[in-house]
Amino acid sequence: MNPTRSASMSPACWSIFFWVLHFFPLLIWFQLNAAAAIGNQTDHLALLKFKESISKDPYGILAFWNSTSHFCTWNGIICSRRHERVTVLNLQRYGLHGFISPHLGNLSFLRILNLQDNSFNDEIPQELGRLIRLQELMLTNNTLAGNIPTNLTSCSQLKGLYLERNNLTGKIPREIDSLRKLERLFLSTNMLTGQIPTSIGNLSSLSTLHAQENSLEGSPPEEIGHMKNLTILNISVNKLSGKLPSSLYNMSSLTKIYLTSNQFRGSLPANMFVTLPSLQQFAMAYNQMSGPIPTSVTNASKLILLDFVDNHLVGQVPSLGNLKDLQILNLAENSLGSNSNKDLEFLKLMTNCSKLRILGLTLNSLGGSLPNSIGNLSTQLESLYLGGNQIYGEIPATIGNLVHLDLLAMESNHLSGIIPTSFGKLHKIELLSLQFLDLSQNNLSGSIPQALQGISTLEYLNISFNMLDGEVPTKGVFANASAVAVIGKNKLCGGISELQLPPCPMKATKKKKRQHHKLVVVIICVVVFLLLLSSILTIYCLRKRNRKSTSNSPTIDLLSKVSYQSLYQATDGFSPSNLIGTGGFGSVYKGRLESEEGVVAIKVLNLRRTGADKSFIAECNALRNIRHRNLVKILTCCSSIDYKGQTFKALVFEYMTNGCLENWLHHGIETAEHQRTLDLRQRLTIVIDIASALHYLHIECKQPIAHCDLKPSNILLDDDLVARVGDFGLARLLSTITSLSNTSTIGIKGTIGYAPPEYGMGSEVSREGDMYSFGILMSEILTGRRPTEEMFKEGYNLHNHVRTALPDNLSQIIDPALLPREFQQTTTAATEAEIDLENPTHLHPNVNKCLLSLCRIGLACSVESPNERMNVVDVTKELNLIKKAFLADGINGGRARI
Ligand SMILES: *[C@@H]1O[C@H](CO)[C@@H](O)[C@H](O)[C@H]1NC(C)=O
Ligand SMILES: *[C@@H]1O[C@H](CO)[C@@H](O)[C@H](O)[C@H]1NC(C)=O
Ligand SMILES: *[C@@H]1O[C@H](CO)[C@@H](O)[C@H](O)[C@H]1NC(C)=O
Ligand SMILES: *[C@@H]1O[C@H](CO)[C@@H](O)[C@H](O)[C@H]1NC(C)=O
Ligand SMILES: *[C@@H]1O[C@H](CO)[C@@H](O)[C@H](O)[C@H]1NC(C)=O
Ligand SMILES: *[C@@H]1O[C@H](CO)[C@@H](O)[C@H](O)[C@H]1NC(C)=O
Ligand SMILES: *[C@@H]1O[C@H](CO)[C@@H](O)[C@H](O)[C@H]1NC(C)=O
Ligand SMILES: *[C@@H]1O[C@H](CO)[C@@H](O)[C@H](O)[C@H]1NC(C)=O
Ligand SMILES: *[C@@H]1O[C@H](CO)[C@@H](O)[C@H](O)[C@H]1NC(C)=O
Repeated sequence: MNPTRSASMSPACWSIFFWVLHFFPLLIWFQLNAAAAIGNQTDHLALLKFKESISKDPYGILAFWNSTSHFCTWNGIICSRRHERVTVLNLQRYGLHGFISPHLGNLSFLRILNLQDNSFNDEIPQELGRLIRLQELMLTNNTLAGNIPTNLTSCSQLKGLYLERNNLTGKIPREIDSLRKLERLFLSTNMLTGQIPTSIGNLSSLSTLHAQENSLEGSPPEEIGHMKNLTILNISVNKLSGKLPSSLYNMSSLTKIYLTSNQFRGSLPANMFVTLPSLQQFAMAYNQMSGPIPTSVTNASKLILLDFVDNHLVGQVPSLGNLKDLQILNLAENSLGSNSNKDLEFLKLMTNCSKLRILGLTLNSLGGSLPNSIGNLSTQLESLYLGGNQIYGEIPATIGNLVHLDLLAMESNHLSGIIPTSFGKLHKIELLSLQFLDLSQNNLSGSIPQALQGISTLEYLNISFNMLDGEVPTKGVFANASAVAVIGKNKLCGGISELQLPPCPMKATKKKKRQHHKLVVVIICVVVFLLLLSSILTIYCLRKRNRKSTSNSPTIDLLSKVSYQSLYQATDGFSPSNLIGTGGFGSVYKGRLESEEGVVAIKVLNLRRTGADKSFIAECNALRNIRHRNLVKILTCCSSIDYKGQTFKALVFEYMTNGCLENWLHHGIETAEHQRTLDLRQRLTIVIDIASALHYLHIECKQPIAHCDLKPSNILLDDDLVARVGDFGLARLLSTITSLSNTSTIGIKGTIGYAPPEYGMGSEVSREGDMYSFGILMSEILTGRRPTEEMFKEGYNLHNHVRTALPDNLSQIIDPALLPREFQQTTTAATEAEIDLENPTHLHPNVNKCLLSLCRIGLACSVESPNERMNVVDVTKELNLIKKAFLADGINGGRARI
């Protein structure tokens, strides 16, 4: 319309265009920078909020998380270089307590969140679902509760989800199939319930699924077979039941399948090892599977572990000669038979399995005799369990060729003939050699080979209930009465006196044999006399015994063992709801055992080893003989192999209804009653109880024992509040059974705060060390303060804390719960630090005196130099005097407070 106008506009347009062109990069730069500033501000705030949600940080790892430095330099943080946004937050194993702040959901660039091995509690916040770039979420080994948040399924980039060992409840969310990229899913050891959702079949990238040790139920869905990339499936120890989905057998990618301890039924398809060509480990123990072992196992050349313990399998053991990699075969507790007229044919065929370490056939119906080729089994063989079958014939001498054997159990069969002298060969290799030998309840005859006493490693020998005769050797294992069992049917003599066998008749030399007939007559007379005498004695004994029970005589008071399965049942599958404590040595569960009356405590030792039981039983026996009113009684033990082929060892104790001293001192026990804290009289009694237990362990025991880990959580209180010391001897027990492995010895030398300073410098454990722990423990009982509290650092410890307050400021350091009640109420009103405790007249002079004397003993026990510490004999003496003086005074009768 108007050319001039349009022409005059033109330069302006150009100039705008020019400016835009010129400054466009600058604009983008500004914009990016603004984003970065907002971004890093958000991250900064989110991290500070996260820090606020942490209540305990023992390593002070978050102390430097403050505004004086850029958050990208903070501990545990990695940022992207360009945008300075947090991409990794890794605070694994820093002992952090607290909850996971929902503000973490604002770290929108986060790829890896690792809070494993801490004590985060409360729920996993739904807000984590906003982390759309998250690839690894690692929350294993915390105390997280609540459900798995459904919003997590929005983290569509997630490749690894690790939620093991928490207290999660509820179901596996159906929406889990939104995690299309998920490769690893770890849900084990929680309290998840319900069925495995069918949607799980849509997780096409999943390669590892760990859901063991939960309470999942129903049968696994057929859709499970759709996961074409799954290599490891572990759903052991759940309440799953019914038949296994048939699609499972089509998952050719699977290498490991663990189904142990469920209630699966039905039989396995004959060709399963053909349709699962990659299978290396198949664990199906403790289920109710029936039918035969699938014939295709013959071709399962990749198989390393096959575990069918305690099912209802029938038929014969197929040829396993092609299984060159097989290491563990356990078929115990089934109904497998064999052609009883022949050798145990399959054993012959197994000589090709040159890597075999554990062969378990206990409690089946195997007949036949042992082939000579048993000596050609793998030289790697460590454990051979053949007990509880119908095996007859002689023990082949070739068995001596199994030079690595450390456990041989052939009890309860029909074996006859002699014990081959070749057994003595078993000790030629020094490290791994025979430690456990059970030949009891057979028909073995002849004498005990002298060679057996030469096996220096042998720690347990049971040859009872055979028809052996002659002299029992006295050296080696025979020198230890608690390690050998020789009773029943045998006609043995001699041996060490504790075995209570008759002495052996004088040896008749050849010369004498040739001599006078007179002597023969005399001998006959003597024999007749002895026979008469012994039958009279027998009758007498039988009568006497009939009055008692007819069961075991004291010499076979060996530990009655319980099975893994019965402990499993007693604790509802070691369910977290039965977990009553965890410590350095392992976890303690509450359970109800059929064989014991009432509730027991079951301590499962923490051993990450494969292998079989060795010295454990012998050591348990020794421990069980240590009995005292103030020690927790060991009822029985279990030494077995769990479903992973790993060593499982547990001790069964009396259950103590009143829990541990730790709880009484620090947490208060919540009931309707008033008197929940311990008064001075009770504390005094408890201290004396503990001292008596130590007196017994240190002085009265045949072999003195150092406890090594005395602390309030190891002191248990029974119905009558009598203190019982637990965990004694465990240090020794653990050091014997872990000596071959490299397991760390944390826990063996006590607990930080209670262990004496010299242990930290490599000193051997000692009674003096125990006295130190006792002194600290006493101070804790009196002050109510843990030696590990934050105030104790840099040379200031509980010992100094008490020492500097004596004698005049006593009332400032003792547990406020020990103060007179009316005074206590005023103190709880004020904050603890502000209490005016100047005036000691609040304490009755006698109480003051008692407390003072007790504190002094605690101090005298916990001095730094081991040689200057008070010993337990003097401690018990003094404590009893203090108690006498205290009780003589009228003020503390009944339940009245001091
Ligand atoms: C955010 O980034 C800008 C520029 O990169 C920087 O100057 C500022 O200090 C950062 N803020 C924080 C809180 O880190
Ligand atoms: C995180 O984001 C939410 C929602 O956008 C906001 O309410 C909250 O204040 C943010 N937290 C921090 C620490 O910035
Ligand atoms: C803040 O962190 C720095 C190190 O980054 C540290 O030196 C300083 O002591 C910290 N400040 C506070 C108040 O903790
Ligand atoms: C679990 O975390 C605790 C610290 O909270 C740690 O001591 C323990 O070793 C962790 N367990 C495992 C198996 O890593
Ligand atoms: C959880 O996800 C839903 C749906 O995506 C969303 O509406 C809700 O805000 C999320 N909750 C949190 C706390 O992020
Ligand atoms: C798997 O995903 C498909 C499509 O995304 C859906 O139609 C199907 O219902 C899902 N399967 C299950 C078992 O959830
Ligand atoms: C297993 O695979 C075979 C052959 O591919 C097929 O015929 C069969 O239907 C599959 N079974 C199941 C349960 O998927
Ligand atoms: C083992 O494999 C061979 C050859 O592949 C086959 O002929 C045989 O039938 C298989 N045996 C079993 C028991 O499946
Ligand atoms: C043992 O292995 C050899 C060679 O690999 C093989 O020829 C033989 O058949 C195998 N023996 C058995 C019993 O499987």
